[in-house]
Amino acid sequence: MPMPLSARSDRGSPRSQPKATYSFRCIGCAAISASAAQDFRCSECGNLLEITDPAWKSARADALKSIWRDRRSSNAFLDLSGVWRFRELLPAPDSADQVISLREGNTPLYELPQASRITGISRLYAKHQGMNPTGSFKDAGMTVAATFARQAGYRWVACASTGNTSASMAAYAARGGMRSLVLVPDGKISWSKLSQALDYGALTCQLRTDFDGCLRLLQELVRRAPVYQLNSINPFRLEGQKTLALELMEQLDWQPPDHIIVPGGNLGNSSAIGKALLEMLDLGLIPRLPKLSVIQAEGANALVRTLREAGGKHLVSVQPETRATAIRIGNPASWEKAVRVIQASGGACDEVSEIEIAQAKAEIGAEGIGCEPASAVTLAGLKKLLRQGFVKPGETVVLVLTGNLLKDPDFTMDFHRGDLFRDTVNERDTASLKPLRHLPVVLDATLDAVIETLERAENSAPHAL
Ligand code: F0G
Repeated sequence: MPMPLSARSDRGSPRSQPKATYSFRCIGCAAISASAAQDFRCSECGNLLEITDPAWKSARADALKSIWRDRRSSNAFLDLSGVWRFRELLPAPDSADQVISLREGNTPLYELPQASRITGISRLYAKHQGMNPTGSFKDAGMTVAATFARQAGYRWVACASTGNTSASMAAYAARGGMRSLVLVPDGKISWSKLSQALDYGALTCQLRTDFDGCLRLLQELVRRAPVYQLNSINPFRLEGQKTLALELMEQLDWQPPDHIIVPGGNLGNSSAIGKALLEMLDLGLIPRLPKLSVIQAEGANALVRTLREAGGKHLVSVQPETRATAIRIGNPASWEKAVRVIQASGGACDEVSEIEIAQAKAEIGAEGIGCEPASAVTLAGLKKLLRQGFVKPGETVVLVLTGNLLKDPDFTMDFHRGDLFRDTVNERDTASLKPLRHLPVVLDATLDAVIETLERAENSAPHAL
């Protein structure tokens, strides 16, 4: 099928030009521009762009807090979105009618009593972004970026993905009447995420490469075909993802925690949260910055190595390998943005092993919350930062859980069956996981069999239940 030559929609006449006040600023040479090329890179130096708007600076902190609080009791379309509720600090579309929303955001902040006991941190919270409409934090950014894609008249949107971006993009494209093209690494994303993209109607290409290969190809594609890229290189995505931090601070009555800990993959989310924190501090919405720390899987630790081996000056790419497939990325696009916010906030960057990830995931599951493997690096990372003395038991800590438990059922089943590390690590090394495993019991369909099983469970350690 030949691609249409124009980026404009053929559904009607081109829409009016944006009367936006925002602009794009290069994070490298600080050049400001009113528009951005399709690869969202600076035309001067090729670095990534971010969005800035002088209108944000004129907002008054106490007025903003009260407007945002009032909107929580409103049933207006924009106010029902936990992203657009904070629209004073977002790029403004031409009109509210343009907005594509699935009521994203408004995600819970949970206490973690069991993890508190395990770590000794009494004020330990999870901001669960897996409770978004498509089950991951991507929706907060996607509502904004998809809105601007449609406003610009695009028929096709596209992304490279480890699964969650593609699920989210496909949903928002469908909702907004656009078509979506998904590029995912063949065999390296969970079926659950892939099935979402299919159900939402995406043209889904499983490429024989890894995520980094998919992203490279997409970067070339957007220069050749009128598709709008919705990876987190797209700075509109990061504006939406900022609202995670705004909502979190509101939930904590604007008292910042000492630490926020996030997983790191392509590093868009940490960059977005960091940008939000700096803007909030600038506006007087918060009195001080929390330390923002990024945790990666040992096998996909490009940022850890970039900081450790290159002092954050240039990217050290890796050949990624981890069962936390969401963060199986070796060449993170937003590494420079992430380095800046980690350094500006005084945060840390560290790595955790596959066993530590599996254990932390099961522990978050045991809270009755659950998350996908990539999200669990946060709890595993917290334990490590505590051992190093970077986090102190008396401090307040927020873990950002990025994806829902149901995103990767294969991982969960393999864990409980004891198959997760089959043939890869020594059985002895996984002894700590045993008490966390719960195998289903197959029984004859008799009352006696069930009662006997119940009694056996009651008489064994509580974890057996
Ligand atoms: N957690 C989950 C569940 C993710 O899906 C991702 C990224 C991350 C953490 C890392 O966030 O890339 O902003 O540093 N998933 C992308 C995707 C790459 O395609 O779904 P990041």
